Amino acid sequence: MRQKRSDELPRFMNDREGPEFRWNRRYTYFLAGFLCICWFLYPSRNTSSANGEPTVNWSNYAYSLYATDSTTLCHAILLADALARLGSKADRVLFYPEYWDTVVSDSKDRDSQLLVLARDKYKVKLQPIKPLTVGGRTKDQWTGTWDKSVTKFMAFSLEYYDRVIALDSDITLLQTLDELFLLPQTPIAMPRAYWADSKPWPLTSMLMVIKPNHKELRRFTDRLTGGGEEMLVDAHKFDMELINERFEESAMVLPHRPYALLSGEFRHRDHSAYLGDSKEEWDAEKVLKEAKLVHFSDWPLPKPWIMWPPEGLQEMQPDCGSSTETCVERRIWKQLYDDFRRRRRDICKLLSVPAPEWQKIKGGEHLPNVTEGTAHAAPHADGNVHVDARRRLM
Ligand SMILES: *[C@@H]1O[C@H](CO)[C@@H](O)[C@H](O)[C@H]1NC(C)=O
Ligand SMILES: *[C@@H]1O[C@H](CO)[C@@H](O)[C@H](O)[C@H]1NC(C)=O
Repeated sequence: MRQKRSDELPRFMNDREGPEFRWNRRYTYFLAGFLCICWFLYPSRNTSSANGEPTVNWSNYAYSLYATDSTTLCHAILLADALARLGSKADRVLFYPEYWDTVVSDSKDRDSQLLVLARDKYKVKLQPIKPLTVGGRTKDQWTGTWDKSVTKFMAFSLEYYDRVIALDSDITLLQTLDELFLLPQTPIAMPRAYWADSKPWPLTSMLMVIKPNHKELRRFTDRLTGGGEEMLVDAHKFDMELINERFEESAMVLPHRPYALLSGEFRHRDHSAYLGDSKEEWDAEKVLKEAKLVHFSDWPLPKPWIMWPPEGLQEMQPDCGSSTETCVERRIWKQLYDDFRRRRRDICKLLSVPAPEWQKIKGGEHLPNVTEGTAHAAPHADGNVHVDARRRLM
């Protein structure tokens, strides 16, 4: 279009010398022509403004969060808080069980308080749903609850949006992920589980950049009703299994560095898998600084909403090869947990679940309901969840 305009420009200049009446008419034609061209080029012009920077309509993008119980509700709100704090421009959507409500009945009604907080303070769009579960497992009350993590697939239903980022809730977001909305078109983009034993590493469902599609959702829910292998379901791996079954060979792969760092990385000695370069020297500070998303994973130590058993902490915490005085890794690792617990207390007004017995969880079989389970009730911190009255009016 620029080319065309500059072709026309000299003629326009010449015409200035002509009679004024003609010039005016000419001017009108040129203006009409110019507007016409603008109109034709509007869709492409829409994506780049005058200075060449892409202008993006952020209402076409959203982060998808989900809550299936009080614990995951709080963690979804911590994510909404992080997105707001980090200046993310996209929408936020929260799926929650339809039998909850947003009427705060009393000061103990934490779920309703948190839903209101999400809606009013963090501008989260609330979507009541029936949580998804893995079929054939409902007889076992505990597993039935646990399996609701597959509710994250509801992100595929958000066809109103061009693209959606679905996040797990046992993570800390350190930077916004808004740039991922602008990736080239693809049904799904995900990082790989760089900690997996076997190669090729499977895709990890902690972060999924999705093109919402009801047909895909239907495929997943059909598979869910068929039930899953008990071990995978118990270990909270079934969603990952389904995603890999469907997209392992066709997904756009996001670099796990910096999009999927495990907290456990700070306890390890060999960092070549995360760094992706065996020659690069490990620098814990630098890795933390560049990381955008940290996933809590230090099994058998419990997740951060459950207290550490003191012996477990002694045994498992980063030891930096015994130079404990200035162990940067330990400081960072503890700081990640402390930060999560502090935000739970300050934002959700929830304390940590008491520590399980270390001897029971250590070494033995993987008991995800003890170390990761979200069904335990956490004690409430003093005070109500605070929603600014002014914001409520907005
Ligand atoms: C952005 O997209 C939304 C939804 O598609 C639309 O309603 C809105 O008008 C768009 N805004 C602009 C400035 O183009
Ligand atoms: C965890 O699961 C085990 C095995 O299914 C069960 O015996 C135990 O009661 C569960 N614990 C909690 C806290 O739900």
